[in-house]
Amino acid sequence: MSATPPPVPPQVPAPHDVAPPGPTADAGYRDVPAAEGGNAGRGWWDANAVEYLDEHGAFLGAADFCWCPEGLRERDARLLGDVAGLRVLEVGAGAAQCSRWLATQGAHVVATDVSRGMLAAGTALDRATGVRVPAVQADARRLPFADDVFDVAFTSFGAIPFVPDADAIHREVARVLRPGGTWTFSVTHPTRWAFPDDPSEHGLTANRSYFDRRPYVETDHAGRVVYAEYHRTLGDHVREVVAAGLELLDVVEPEWPTDNTEVWGGWGPVRGAYLPGTAIFRTRLPG
Ligand SMILES: C[S@@+](CC[C@H](N)C(=O)[O-])C[C@H]1O[C@@H](n2cnc3c(N)ncnc32)[C@H](O)[C@@H]1O
Repeated sequence: MSATPPPVPPQVPAPHDVAPPGPTADAGYRDVPAAEGGNAGRGWWDANAVEYLDEHGAFLGAADFCWCPEGLRERDARLLGDVAGLRVLEVGAGAAQCSRWLATQGAHVVATDVSRGMLAAGTALDRATGVRVPAVQADARRLPFADDVFDVAFTSFGAIPFVPDADAIHREVARVLRPGGTWTFSVTHPTRWAFPDDPSEHGLTANRSYFDRRPYVETDHAGRVVYAEYHRTLGDHVREVVAAGLELLDVVEPEWPTDNTEVWGGWGPVRGAYLPGTAIFRTRLPG
């Protein structure tokens, strides 16, 4: 454990090689080439950064660490422990609200995300809050950092759901963590895949197989994949972290608090009373 912040590479310039996604013409569950599905996230998040943050920014907070739509905050949950003086990496950081909060707790934090649009929103929040965090544009499957340089890595719903090869993310995180470092990530609870993405009572009746791994895909009029979201069963997640050489410490399933009236996509109090919406995996690199 060291108090020295890791070297921060210069921000990767975004080549203008990602066509902005067109309007969605078709949506459903079907297999698509892995490269197409896995690379769609960047363009989608660039195009939707402003709308996403208009909708959810107030709930997330500008310099606050929210793990999930249930509203679990790191200041209460302390899943990362005391981060003061630690070198912390956030992947799929979005506008880096979590990193900003960790910086106020004394962490040496670096926020990374594949979307230039989301990082630009983060720069605006840096200015608004006066809490500045270094931000690097990077795909979580190819992290531009040396081996063993971070004490803690985490993501709150970033990167993992949007790639077919999350095993590559776990391997990269394991590579940049020092032995004994921790990797904590929140994702949609796997059981949700079997239910309609609907926050009302309609969303309480299972209508598809939990075991169907075909991604949810949106395409534009030209047939290009503009959005893809991937499902992993509980066992899939466990196998992927173990294959990356990580130890599984815990799986946290936050309950829906009775005072949380927020509706976020398919999440909300109606379903939250019956079904888990989020799984938070706590893992550690042995050593
Ligand atoms: C739901 S947001 C989570 C970010 C933030 N915690 C929040 O709640 O707004 C998902 C983020 O994952 C990022 N993302 C998607 N695919 C990625 C990838 N392959 N590598 C890194 N980030 C990725 C998106 O750009 C987006 O900012």
